[in-house]
Amino acid sequence: MRAIQFTAVNQIEVREVPEPVPASGEVLVRIRAAALNHRDLWIKLGQYAGLQFPCTPGSDGVGEVCAVGPGVDAETAARWMGRRVVINPAFDWGSDPVAVPVDQLAEAPAHLSDDEAAALPLAGLTAWRAVMTRGAVRRGDKVLISGVGGGAAVAALQFAVAAGAKTWVTSSSAEKIDRARALGAEAGFDYTRSDWVEAARAAVPGGFDVIIDSAGGEGFEKLIDLAAAGGRLVFFGATRGNPPVLPMRKVFWRQLSLLGTTMGSPDDWRAMLETVSRHRIRPVVGHGFAFAQAASAFDLMEQGSQFGKIVVRP
Ligand SMILES: NC(=O)c1ccc[n+]([C@@H]2O[C@H](COP(=O)([O-])OP(=O)(O)OC[C@H]3O[C@@H](n4cnc5c(N)ncnc54)[C@H](OP(=O)(O)O)[C@@H]3O)[C@@H](O)[C@H]2O)c1
Repeated sequence: MRAIQFTAVNQIEVREVPEPVPASGEVLVRIRAAALNHRDLWIKLGQYAGLQFPCTPGSDGVGEVCAVGPGVDAETAARWMGRRVVINPAFDWGSDPVAVPVDQLAEAPAHLSDDEAAALPLAGLTAWRAVMTRGAVRRGDKVLISGVGGGAAVAALQFAVAAGAKTWVTSSSAEKIDRARALGAEAGFDYTRSDWVEAARAAVPGGFDVIIDSAGGEGFEKLIDLAAAGGRLVFFGATRGNPPVLPMRKVFWRQLSLLGTTMGSPDDWRAMLETVSRHRIRPVVGHGFAFAQAASAFDLMEQGSQFGKIVVRP
């Protein structure tokens, strides 16, 4: 079979690799489409813990179950063989991207194309837990999502809107803010402008009940300023590194909660998939690439010019 592999830092190739044999309790999934996550860019840049080359990136995929390993009972095997599935990425993938424990499978939501289904798992699960479980967003809450061009940020916007929250976004791009409005955002603020915090304060004078961030860095302090008293700041990424300062007095005087989160639990996974099907939410696929153009897909993510997810197809 073919796989996209990094053979060294920034060295990407499409290579022939042996087809995996499912071990006990595993199934083999023939991938129809896969999606990139920022994690894959960290791998490309050699900035991911425990990295060993050659390395097959990827955490997301949609495909059919094409083989079943020992230790999967006949009823479970019959249930999954040939089904179009998405894979819960919240487990130890080890070195093998397509032989996965049968427990991690879920039927791909029927209303989604292969590209959309491939785009859903990691970003959807992370965004679901950030918005619904950790952020506890409820109808009428005022929510701010930073860097809405990112794959997980767009999913967070979709879940916040589906929950009935009034949702604002930040972005470096006016066009991405327009696209966010089309998905239900009230308005957006350009975080590259020096006056964006004032604009956000004017739009929502009482502050935001929940703020979802994956950029960190210097901008994080501004998000603390924009939180309502008792507000919750939920973060799952640090694209811009650590915040240089943490104004602790602002956090404790205003009873703010700083909440870290990573991917999600099995309950989050089930609830996310159920909501996607019930609200017929479609993950936003900004760009699709053939396997042979994998290097271009990574370049696009490195430039940050995407809106939503980047998908690659074998
Ligand atoms: N812990 C977890 O489980 C988990 C899961 C998923 C992702 N993550 C992390 O979350 C981050 C985003 O991941 P992703 O896959 O969604 O990445 P992505 O699709 O590459 O998102 C990149 C986006 O970050 C935004 N951004 C860049 N600089 C910013 C700034 N100073 N302020 C606000 N936004 C900024 C940009 O938004 P605009 O284009 O709109 O300006 C850009 O489009 C990464 O750090 C990733 O490692 C963690």
